[in-house]
Amino acid sequence: MQLNVLLLPGDGIGVEVTREARKVLEQVGRVFGHTLKISEALLGGIAIHKTGDPFPEDTRELAAEADATLMGAVGLPEFDNAPPDKRPERGLLGIRKALGVYSNLRPVRSYKALLDSSPLKNELVDGVDMIIVRELTGGVYYGTPRGISGAGLEERAVNTMTYTRGEIERIAQMAFELARKRRKKVTSVDKSNVLENSQLWRRVVVDVAKQYPDVAVDHMLVDNCAMQLVLNPKRFDVVLTENMFGDILSDEGAVLAGSIGMLPSASLGPKRPSGAWTGLYEPVHGSAPDIAGQNKANPFGAIGSVAAMLEYSFGLTREAQAVNAAVENVLNSGRVTADLKPAGKAATTSEVGDAVCEALQPARKEVGAAKS
Ligand code: IPM
Ligand code: MN
Repeated sequence: MQLNVLLLPGDGIGVEVTREARKVLEQVGRVFGHTLKISEALLGGIAIHKTGDPFPEDTRELAAEADATLMGAVGLPEFDNAPPDKRPERGLLGIRKALGVYSNLRPVRSYKALLDSSPLKNELVDGVDMIIVRELTGGVYYGTPRGISGAGLEERAVNTMTYTRGEIERIAQMAFELARKRRKKVTSVDKSNVLENSQLWRRVVVDVAKQYPDVAVDHMLVDNCAMQLVLNPKRFDVVLTENMFGDILSDEGAVLAGSIGMLPSASLGPKRPSGAWTGLYEPVHGSAPDIAGQNKANPFGAIGSVAAMLEYSFGLTREAQAVNAAVENVLNSGRVTADLKPAGKAATTSEVGDAVCEALQPARKEVGAAKS
């Protein structure tokens, strides 16, 4: 198969983790016999520096042409006080909207080898396996009117949280479809005791749930959910929520996984004529300027995002499983970066990438053997 992939390394550690993700993708190509066509483009702070625009037209075109896009991270401290449309984050919001990737899947699971990496008690974390389904192209991130106006004590900022029935329906359907392939339980998270937006959200989820009588559904207020995620995380299977709540809850979920560096994500949009999802793949972590350029960032989130890409954009389930198995293998060997607090010496970003590539080797023999 020919895989046309666009890489958007972006800012800070995004550059380092996508380098390792690329190595792993190339190794998958070698081991499983796929041809890769990898291109790179600018997004975020680096794009502002080089073109004045966080989401340049070139990037837009290349992303539209690619079968799938892998993003590293965006954000640089020098833009902290820049106007909203000259911020790196605007580039990421722009590409999500341009590709129409409304469905952000953020799996959160615990690995046996990482139980001690979480500050939470082992018995609480052991066995956690959930997926946060975050609506990604609506809500307060995109709503208008928005902006800052006036001056003095009358200076005023406005954001608008807005959802249509259609937007809620399609993300809810995604959550229920996923639940069917898992433990058949959806927890829809909202703030319906206060927000009209959430009242509509809850009504629509109740309606969609009727089409999935085999899936159990419950509704939870977001403040309670924030607490339950650390009190009783194993109760969650599929967590369905709107854009900003999903952003916040997924960082909390990272504590269960041991480090935010562990979390991959898949942002999916309309199906292509080939039947594959339009996909933007992005680790959940940010650009971490404090450790950028030091070869110590955790690349597992980016590498896991490659696995998600193989599965959702290319339908290469076996390859995706091989990457995930290689990751697990490396975790068990203890070759992990400093954020995971290894017992021995911490591995560097590139050592982890190399170790995953090496662990991918055995699949070659199995595949060869299976064919002959
Ligand atoms: C995320 C990030 C982004 C978001 C930022 C960088 C715009 O925090 O993907 O979780 O808020 O969606
Ligand atoms: Mn976030």
